[in-house]
Amino acid sequence: MSTPSRIKRITAPELAARKGGEPIAVLTAYTAPMAQFLDEHVDCLLVGDSLGMVVYGFDTTLPVTLDMMINHGAAVVRGSERACVIVDMPFGSYQESAEQAYRNAARMMQETGCDGVKLEAGVAMASTIEFLAQRGIPVMGHIGLMPQSVNTYGGFRVQGKDTTVARQVIDDARAVADAGAFSIVVEGVMEPVAREITQIVAVPTIGIGASVECDGQVLVTEDLVGMFSDFTPKFVKRYAELGDELGKAAAAYAEDVRARRFPSAEYCFGAPKTDGAEVRQLKP
Ligand code: KIV
Repeated sequence: MSTPSRIKRITAPELAARKGGEPIAVLTAYTAPMAQFLDEHVDCLLVGDSLGMVVYGFDTTLPVTLDMMINHGAAVVRGSERACVIVDMPFGSYQESAEQAYRNAARMMQETGCDGVKLEAGVAMASTIEFLAQRGIPVMGHIGLMPQSVNTYGGFRVQGKDTTVARQVIDDARAVADAGAFSIVVEGVMEPVAREITQIVAVPTIGIGASVECDGQVLVTEDLVGMFSDFTPKFVKRYAELGDELGKAAAAYAEDVRARRFPSAEYCFGAPKTDGAEVRQLKP
C-alpha cells in the first residue's frame, strides 16, 4: 500500500471560501517542471489554453484541442501536489450542448486528475455551467475578454469601455455565479466594471487586466518572467527577465562548444584530467 501524501491539495470549495478574504494567487502552468517550480507559491495552477500561443506558436487559442489540454493538464497534476489545478476547456469542446460539455469535462477530470475546469462563458453558457456544477464538475467561469471569441470581437479588445458592453459583462458575471461557478476569471475589462462585479457576485473573482479589488489575480507565467515575447501587455508586470538569461546561457554554451572548451574533463566519463588523473565513470 502506498503512503498517503501528507500534503493535501487546495480544493475548489476552499478557493470559493476565500471570497473577500486573503487574495488568491493564480499562475498558468503547462508542464510538469513549471508546475513543480510554482506549486508551493500559488494557490491555483491554471492550465490555460493560452498554451496554444505560448507553447505552440499559434496566433490564437482556437487551434488548441481537447487532447492537447488533457496531456498538459495531466503533466501539471503530476508536477504539483499542493495547488488546485484547473484546466481550460478548449474552443469547440463545450459550446455545442450541456451534454457535450459534460462528456468532455468528465474526460478531462478522469484523464488528468485535475480539480476543475474553466469555461469561457457568460449568460449564453450559464445553463451549461449549471449542468456541470450539479453533476460533480467544479467550474471556473471566464468573462470579459474571452480569447476564444476573438473572431467575433474582431481582435483582442478591452471590454466594458461603453456602458452597453459593461452592462453585458456584469450580466455575464451574475449569470455565471448564479449557475454555480465556484469562481470567475474577469479578463481585460475596465477597472470600475471589475470592481463592481467583485462587489456583486458571491464567488471569488480572479482578475487579469481587471482590478486590484478582485478576490485574486492570474497571469501567464511566461509573461511574468519575460519568456514569451517582446510585447508586454499593459496588465503584465514582469518580475524577471528569464528570456534574456536564456539567451545569455545559450550564447555562452555555443561559444564554449565552438572553442572546444565544453565538455571539459569534469563533464566527461573516463577522460584524463588536466593533472593526468582519470575521472571515474559513475557506471561501468
Ligand atoms: O488561457 C489562459 O491562460 C487564461 C488566463 C490568462 C486567464 O485563460
